[in-house]
Amino acid sequence: MSQRFVSRRIADVPPSAIRRFFDMAGSVENVISLGIGEPDFVTPYSSRDAMINSLLDGQTQYTANPGLLALRQEIAHYLAQRFDIHYDPEREILVTVGASEAIDIALRAVVEPGDEVLISEPCFVSYGPCVTFAGGIPVAVPCQPEEGFQVTAKALLQHLTARTKAILISYPNNPTGAVLDRAHLEQVADVAREHDLLVISDEIYNELIYDGHAQGSMAALPEMARRCITINGFSKAFAMTGLRIGYVAAPAAILGACAKIHQYTIMCASRQSQVAALRALQKGRQDGYADIEDMRQSYDRRRRLMYDAFASMGLDCTEPQGAFYAFPSIRSTGLSSETFCRRLLEEQAVVCIPGNAFGAVGEGHIRCCYATGVDKLLAAFERMQVFLDSLRRN
Ligand SMILES: Cc1ncc(COP(=O)(O)O)c(C=O)c1O
Repeated sequence: MSQRFVSRRIADVPPSAIRRFFDMAGSVENVISLGIGEPDFVTPYSSRDAMINSLLDGQTQYTANPGLLALRQEIAHYLAQRFDIHYDPEREILVTVGASEAIDIALRAVVEPGDEVLISEPCFVSYGPCVTFAGGIPVAVPCQPEEGFQVTAKALLQHLTARTKAILISYPNNPTGAVLDRAHLEQVADVAREHDLLVISDEIYNELIYDGHAQGSMAALPEMARRCITINGFSKAFAMTGLRIGYVAAPAAILGACAKIHQYTIMCASRQSQVAALRALQKGRQDGYADIEDMRQSYDRRRRLMYDAFASMGLDCTEPQGAFYAFPSIRSTGLSSETFCRRLLEEQAVVCIPGNAFGAVGEGHIRCCYATGVDKLLAAFERMQVFLDSLRRN
């Protein structure tokens, strides 16, 4: 009855399939989850300590709307040092409630009603809905496993229209683990420059790259800084998911528009979370980001374990080069992604996420997160093998 009050634009957006699988998993005993995209590390001690001390010190007030200046200065230094991208901390960086808020306000700041945003898929589940919430039209640009799930100029151009305003990409990629190599990064930049488009580049996994693969930042390419919004945050590489702390960096005019939305809707990110992030960057600057490196190496060991496990199960899998996900194909089983994941949960109590949750091109795949303990991973692989054997027998 009260449904009629709900905006059609919102009602038409389906709920996230990730959430649906978690709800299903809640009622299954002895479940092992490869579902959630979250580090299994606790936030490093030094950041927790800094938060506690700021509380004990009575620091419980709002901060400046764009975030503590000291934090924005550290972010500017970090981005310059690690990714060769250069932003003015006073006019071009805004601290947000996770990268999630950064994505939302970046889109709302630039999208006019009816503008189309090209989104390389498979991708993080919030992009399409956030474009819709901003009044725009999300346009999926499918990336294929044969191309290592990298976005190509050809695919972008196939979906370009007179209404295209921006390209939204995210590499290292959730859910495929793909890293955008230099040639492909340049292809995206070329399309943006030639067709006067903005690029929104979600680089939240850019510290988690393995095997010597490298990925530059979009804003570091020639002439790209002025047509690029960089999204990043502390959830993944700094293990701070629950602290909800991220940031957006962009040319001053765009950042100012983001700041307007942030100022009226959020005021400021939590002070304690800002303090934790500030401490993490200060410590990283001193010790060469040792915490990140320790976690990265640990993920890398588990990445290999998972990749080898899928090979021995006979599931095709593009080798993940970044983030902490693998995206094997389950086409050989003849099941849809949804059925595969539902039955795997019901029959073997393992949670994976159906690939189509990340865009239609993900159908035939499942997303498995390896940021979980090795014992649990090994047990999950055993259960998956039993499940696959049972499918193959029938
Ligand atoms: C690609 C990508 N961007 C953004 C986010 C959101 O991160 P945050 O926790 O900072 O809001 C996620 C979380 O899974 C993600 O995978």
